[in-house]
Amino acid sequence: AVVLRHFALTYETVIFAALTDVVGQAPFRHMVTPGGFQMSAAMTSCGGFGWLADRTGYRYNTTDPQTGLPWPPLPDALLRLGIEAATAAGYPSFVPDACLINRYAVGAKMSLHQDKDEPDLGAPIVSVSLGLPANFQFGGLRREDKPLRVQLTHGDVVVWGGPARLYFHGVLPIKDGVHPLTGAFRINLTFRKVSK
Ligand code: SIN
Ligand code: FE2
Repeated sequence: AVVLRHFALTYETVIFAALTDVVGQAPFRHMVTPGGFQMSAAMTSCGGFGWLADRTGYRYNTTDPQTGLPWPPLPDALLRLGIEAATAAGYPSFVPDACLINRYAVGAKMSLHQDKDEPDLGAPIVSVSLGLPANFQFGGLRREDKPLRVQLTHGDVVVWGGPARLYFHGVLPIKDGVHPLTGAFRINLTFRKVSK
């Protein structure tokens, strides 16, 4: 697992243009977990697959259930960012086919979890942080493993794969603040390879 500080900063303008386009087609929504809890982060996706949570479970789908349409395509600038960050972290053959977009308002969080809905665990996860800072937790293979706490700020990228691919991770509640580009939000993009 690698933290690439500020890696996404040079992509900032193209990222926000791409996000405006994606969110116009597939708006942010709060999903409900199988346990019946509404997730505090609002989500959407782009690429060939989008991630979904509902009362029946967690999965990827090629269409957005909210619109009935395919998820918006993965914008070329985002695809390049995902590939270049993975390459910089030592995963030169990574080609993402999905990007999950999380939007955290102040107080929103993500509990410790594993990213395990992707069939090909040989591909890493590439995570891009934008806007308000986050305290990211990065643990081990067992939920009980004491997580490291890493502060992630605008433009930081985290990549994890190989033996760390299934490590538990999460986000502590976002602290109050204002960022010049995102206002009172943190945005996180995770690039994933979902096809086998
Ligand atoms: C995730 O685990 O899907 C998101 C992590 C983050 O928001 O930094
Ligand atoms: Fe995750």
